[in-house]
Amino acid sequence: MFAAEQPAADEIWEQFFAGVGAMACGSTTYEWLVEHENLLDNPAHWQEMHGDRKMWVFTHRELPVVPGADLRFVRDDVATVHAEMVSAAGDRNVWIIGGGDLVGQFDDVGLLDEMILGVAPVTLGAGAPVLPRRIERRLQLTEARSSGGFAFLTYAVSRRSEV
Ligand SMILES: NC(=O)c1ccc[n+]([C@@H]2O[C@H](COP(=O)([O-])OP(=O)(O)OC[C@H]3O[C@@H](n4cnc5c(N)ncnc54)[C@H](OP(=O)(O)O)[C@@H]3O)[C@@H](O)[C@H]2O)c1
Repeated sequence: MFAAEQPAADEIWEQFFAGVGAMACGSTTYEWLVEHENLLDNPAHWQEMHGDRKMWVFTHRELPVVPGADLRFVRDDVATVHAEMVSAAGDRNVWIIGGGDLVGQFDDVGLLDEMILGVAPVTLGAGAPVLPRRIERRLQLTEARSSGGFAFLTYAVSRRSEV
């Protein structure tokens, strides 16, 4: 049973994002964001959404650049990028937005320590796996929050050597 007083989803998001100092994503996610938020026509919206946070975009291709956004287009070596992100983030967190395989690449080299799942009330008969790795034995649920029809689940991810 959930508490009667539920925080708004916006409040949960704002609390999480305030703790983020650097972000990374794959090219599909970046391209979706650029198109969905119409960022090439309205680049100022990038700062409205992300403030001055740096974003690393993993790609082997040349992608459109949102004017004024603090972007780095990188490839392959997630450990080097992670070190740059930690340095840019200062005392805040590094957020690997997704997709799932990119998150898995960070986990492959022991650089994933927490996973936050936002669960929406949509039933799917098929689709892509959230995180295409078998890591469930290394997950420990540390927090479950609800807001409207949504659930936000936080898992601590232990290192392979720790299980
Ligand atoms: N609901 C959410 O919170 C959320 C969050 C994130 C994503 N999503 C969605 O989930 C889906 C994820 O799509 P996706 O699986 O295609 O993931 P993606 O990680 O956004 O993009 C995958 C692409 O990133 C590039 N890439 C990945 N790793 C790389 C590396 N190490 N070096 C260089 N390039 C690399 C490759 O493209 P290139 O061809 O450019 O090299 C690869 O095809 C999208 O529909 C996205 O919108 C949802």
